[in-house]
Amino acid sequence: MEFESFPWSGPLGTMLYFVFFSFTAVFSIFSLLIFILRHLQPWCTCDTCHTYLTAGWRSHFDNLSDWYAHLLRHSPTGTIHIHVLGNIITANPDNVHHILKSRFHNYPKGKQFSAILGDLLGRGIFNSDGDRWMFQRKMASLELGSVSVRSCAFEIVSSEIRTRLLPLFDSVIARPSSEDPVKPHPGFDLQDVFRRFSFDTICRFSFGLDPGCLKLSLPMSEFAVAFDAASRLSAQRALTRASLVWKLKRLLNIGSEKKLSEAIKMINTLAEEVIRQRREMGSSSNKNDLLSRFIDSIHDDRFLRDVIVSFLLAGRDTVASGLTGLLWFISQNPKVEEAIREEADRVMGQTDDVATFEQIRSMHYLHATVYESMRLLPPIQFDSKFALEDDILPDGTFIKGGTRVTYHPYAMGRMERIWGNDALKFRPERWLKDGVFSPQNPYKYPVFQAGPRVCLGKELAIVEMKAAALALVRKYSILPVDPSWKPQFAPGLTATLRDGLPVIITPRRGC
Ligand code: HEM
Repeated sequence: MEFESFPWSGPLGTMLYFVFFSFTAVFSIFSLLIFILRHLQPWCTCDTCHTYLTAGWRSHFDNLSDWYAHLLRHSPTGTIHIHVLGNIITANPDNVHHILKSRFHNYPKGKQFSAILGDLLGRGIFNSDGDRWMFQRKMASLELGSVSVRSCAFEIVSSEIRTRLLPLFDSVIARPSSEDPVKPHPGFDLQDVFRRFSFDTICRFSFGLDPGCLKLSLPMSEFAVAFDAASRLSAQRALTRASLVWKLKRLLNIGSEKKLSEAIKMINTLAEEVIRQRREMGSSSNKNDLLSRFIDSIHDDRFLRDVIVSFLLAGRDTVASGLTGLLWFISQNPKVEEAIREEADRVMGQTDDVATFEQIRSMHYLHATVYESMRLLPPIQFDSKFALEDDILPDGTFIKGGTRVTYHPYAMGRMERIWGNDALKFRPERWLKDGVFSPQNPYKYPVFQAGPRVCLGKELAIVEMKAAALALVRKYSILPVDPSWKPQFAPGLTATLRDGLPVIITPRRGC
């Protein structure tokens, strides 16, 4: 740092810096103490808190979520309290209904969440409560419900599969030969491919912009790299036990906060440029992406950027995570794989083409398989709200105003009291009645949340997952390089596999 170039140089400047930093430090320590005393119990020595603090769960479980699932399964109410985190976690469907629907207004996202994601998402839907949320929700529901937007979205997905995903798989299949026995393509990571696939589709759908990430020969676009960094670094904020730590780093513009601010600057520059170009084109652009549809009703460009960036975050990693889990479950369940192919042959005949929207919709077994895979591996494993006022959950748990309350779809999918004795078994048939998909109570399957804030991209996500998985399953056999592979997650907002999912791809006989 070059102090000479600072405006306040000399002894007076040094003194002012000293006073400023001392004041900041004292203020921060004081606020930290108040926060700890009000919301956390750092001195708690109960078994659960001790195991959390010493990471003792690692000796028995691969993932923190598996340990939570274990605790929730053994809790008579299906609710636990991690005192040192000030977090009440529930897997009880009655509580989930209470939080997400009956007492919706008492459980907003809260200031804590919006502070964490505020720099990246601004005032976007994902990060808003109250009237601002309601306005965007209404507008976005109208758009996403429209037939033309849906068919445009499906066109984008189909073309991405036809022109990029399948050619990419063709280029990396392991071909047996006498000299060169089947060798996995080095580093063909299914999760990485699906992240590129879903980023291309969500960018084209939201901005009308094609980052071309799935062309593996090309480096990831600057935008994708910046977006990756921004969502990862924002998620890291949530992992610091006291928010003052990252707030101080942001104030000083150092470390991860410096990188985050650079990534956000890059996203903003690009978003501003796209919005400017679209404004210049006016209604002549005649496009069906969300930006074109919102541009006439939102005149504040900064807000427009926030709206669109929220969609990118909502629709990117979730779909990639859902698809990776789905393909893994299919690879582990040959009977399910065969049933998917049989259903496709029945509906589509022997064509090599990608399924149409109508064909996709009529595949109930595939639909059930997608739901079943997200029951056991939900892309968003848990989701937190912050209680405004004191409350009592239906199972009798007292909630003090200001407390973080988390519902846990990952644990819920593994509860025998919700799904029966075979809860841990992958069985798409549980979703079918006489061969027709039969939805379950959304409060026992809150994978897309439920109630007034239920996911707006649910239909799109499911169609996208069905179309991509089907196209791959019909043409290839996909197996993990390591047959004993089990999911291990990296910390973050969306379930992301720590080391990806390396696979071997072979063409199916006759393809
Ligand atoms: C498998 C894929 C997906 C899953 C599992 C999923 C799940 C969720 C969940 C759990 C929420 C609630 C989050 C919260 O309030 O903290 C949510 C909200 C949302 N999702 Fe999705 N999502 C998926 C895909 C998508 C896609 C593709 C889009 C966009 C096209 C999308 C758009 C949204 C939006 C806009 C919200 C905010 C709704 C609101 O606050 O009113 N999602 N999603």
